[in-house]
Amino acid sequence: MPKFPALRMRRLRRTAAMRRLVRETRVSVDDLILPLFVVPGSGVRRPVASMPGVAQTSVDEAARDAAEAAELGIPAVLLFGIPESKDEAGSEGYAEDGIVQRAVAAIKEAAPGLVVITDVCLCEYTSHGHCGVLRDGTVDNDATLELLARQALSHAAAGADVVAPSDMMDGRVGVIRGALDAEGFADVAILSYAAKFASAFYGPFREAAESAPQFGDRRGYQMDPANGLEALREVQLDIEEGADIVMVKPALAYLDVVRRVKDATGYPVCAYHVSGEYAAVKAAAAQGWLDEDRAMREVLTSIKRAGADLIVTYWAREFARGATSSD
Ligand code: PBG
Repeated sequence: MPKFPALRMRRLRRTAAMRRLVRETRVSVDDLILPLFVVPGSGVRRPVASMPGVAQTSVDEAARDAAEAAELGIPAVLLFGIPESKDEAGSEGYAEDGIVQRAVAAIKEAAPGLVVITDVCLCEYTSHGHCGVLRDGTVDNDATLELLARQALSHAAAGADVVAPSDMMDGRVGVIRGALDAEGFADVAILSYAAKFASAFYGPFREAAESAPQFGDRRGYQMDPANGLEALREVQLDIEEGADIVMVKPALAYLDVVRRVKDATGYPVCAYHVSGEYAAVKAAAAQGWLDEDRAMREVLTSIKRAGADLIVTYWAREFARGATSSD
């Protein structure tokens, strides 16, 4: 390698066009998945206070948002449902005419080409807000598996292309794969929240999904933020059980995990830029403390550079609208 002054790194940074020519990482609209929160009723559009730009919407409005996303070139949406009523077992989660099941059908009609992904978890549907059923005050892994499989099946029957279990129960990917195959849904893919950490950054989501645990926390099933090797084992297990795409969540505080998972598996890797990560930038931007558009591009680029192929982001529409602008 030549040395200074023969070598001047700044030569290739002089103009916007030059920087574009040598840019290593590009975020494309093709990489993005837009989350949607669906609530009962019609004509409902309720902004989520802690997530500016995000709203809870009824099925009809969600279908409109999905169609808009498709028009913007966004390939996929990820659905979360907030049911009319909650119970101990989260039974609304697998109701044939449940909120997500109806939303899937409406979105498939409004935007047939869009990939519809459904979050599979009990926390939005249980009265206690935990991701599984309880026994003696803790989440019972094995009893939860059957309910997750029922929920995944009902989403597939409604027309979901991909089911995304986010509960962190052991063995759920295998049980869900088996149930889907047995019922004729061999083509429905599984995007597993494989390395999901017990994170402070989920705070605003729990307002959007009305899913805060009513007691305790999720540290008994979600991962300890300190553990990277364990994340690789979680990912490996999910792949062995039949996951088609593996997710690391959250994204920014776990970019090292994203890179290790990509290098170790070669699988399609999805990173979830979560509610708190989004809200933090929104809040700082509202104060005038940073430029949101630039921060958004930098954040999404860093996630891509770390090795993610797909990114779940509440910014999907904003990014898509300005996708051709680059500096
Ligand atoms: C459900 C679920 C959560 C998120 C996605 N699916 C919340 C949690 O585990 O507490 C968080 C998403 C976000 O913060 O944007 N289990």
